[in-house]
Amino acid sequence: MSDTEPHSLHSNDSGPSSATNPSNAALPPGPRGLPILGSTLSIVRDPLEFVESAKQYGDIVSYEAYGTEFALVYDPHAVEAILVSRSDEFEKGDFETDFGELIAPDGIAFTEGQRWRRQRTLLQSSFTPNRIHAVADGMVAEANRLVDDWDDGDEIALRDALSTYTLRVLARTLFDLPLDGERIATVTRAAAAVNKYASPQRLAIGSFLPSWIPDRAEREYETAMADLEALITELVTERRQTDATGDDLLSVLARAEYPDGSRLSADEIRDQLVTFLFAGHETTATALAVACWLLAGNSSVRAELESELAAVCNDRNPTIGDRAHLEYTEAVLKEAMRLYPPVTGIYREPLAETVLSGYRIPTGMTLQLSVYGIHRDERWWADPETFRPERWLADTERPEYAYFPFGGGPRHCLGMRFAMVELQLALAALARRVEFSRLVETLEPSLGVTLDPGPLETRVENR
Ligand code: HEM
Repeated sequence: MSDTEPHSLHSNDSGPSSATNPSNAALPPGPRGLPILGSTLSIVRDPLEFVESAKQYGDIVSYEAYGTEFALVYDPHAVEAILVSRSDEFEKGDFETDFGELIAPDGIAFTEGQRWRRQRTLLQSSFTPNRIHAVADGMVAEANRLVDDWDDGDEIALRDALSTYTLRVLARTLFDLPLDGERIATVTRAAAAVNKYASPQRLAIGSFLPSWIPDRAEREYETAMADLEALITELVTERRQTDATGDDLLSVLARAEYPDGSRLSADEIRDQLVTFLFAGHETTATALAVACWLLAGNSSVRAELESELAAVCNDRNPTIGDRAHLEYTEAVLKEAMRLYPPVTGIYREPLAETVLSGYRIPTGMTLQLSVYGIHRDERWWADPETFRPERWLADTERPEYAYFPFGGGPRHCLGMRFAMVELQLALAALARRVEFSRLVETLEPSLGVTLDPGPLETRVENR
């Protein structure tokens, strides 16, 4: 029996009810899954395919995996309720905080309530428009540095190259210093180790094995995180001993004080910096790499982009002042993130049993807001599998949360504006000077902590 057949326990012939009292509402329908394993096997085999195929059950779909009850949410209005209008009824929940425990328990992405609010106020002072303005030329300089290091005809893996790029940009922003050599390798190793350690495949195996059995991924993860921690301690100590007057995140954290005059502990600072490194590095690299790869396979889109760049920048570097005129460049990036959102799902748990779109959501059930599924839903997107940046230039009516690569509501991505500036300037800077041609025709994404587009092998050609 297939583990995506209808779930007898959860099947609901009458569909969603109009009940607002949870005890009168049915659980959402969903795939039956296998005894004990639930849908774990399907998810391990292909998590993104599972998300696509589960849509057949409706807009809210329950399933069981890793010994936990999940409900996939494909309804943009329900997403808006969870993230925005009813956001105080939900919290991140165990699925997210268990992951937070692994990398940065006190990091802003994982805390709740007053503690989170205080962190958000403190940290967003490093991501103001002025601060982003100040690092914009550095974003372009780093893109040019990447191109300078390539020769005409070089074969490169876009994902790795652009991952180095976003890490260099992030280092300038977070630490206001260049990270190179062994220091950058330390961060890259830690990011790769976490991605492997917390992948759906490993989570699945881990949930059925005694936790005291260490495996290779765990050992690699522990070594890589210990190295990262040592690097961050070194950076904080250096900054506290020298000049902590800047508005980069490291300086803000190094001099920050609570109302009683006490300073942030080394652990708190470490957790914030680790969170920002993870939140801002692979996500942005994936969006940029996918956009470059999609351009490489679409000559008419490429031609349109070139004509915009010629009109706006002519033969100079793009600047932050050009952003409003680089509309097509922005459309290419939005469309790349629609098809391949770096964060494919956002997780929440209800604080108390509740009703969502007519279905009962018990406490302990993890809601999985399907960014990937909603971005490819033909109710909102004509011809959803096709890469068509032009759709962003037309006025089409669709629910606001039919597109939410950066989440929404009070906990929307703190780096959203920063990421969009970086993506737009980097794509313009790269596309002015080089063109990529594909060495592999298909993009087969898989899922680590974020979407992994694969290496994306291409050849670089100078323009
Ligand atoms: C294309 C790039 C990016 C994407 C797609 C992305 C996506 C997201 C999403 C979906 C969330 C919300 C998660 C939730 O509600 O559970 C989030 C949160 C967050 N992101 Fe990003 N992000 C990107 C880049 C960045 C960058 C560059 C930074 C910082 C340098 C950053 C920092 C954060 C932080 C700190 C949070 C947690 C905010 C909070 O809980 O208050 N992100 N991001």
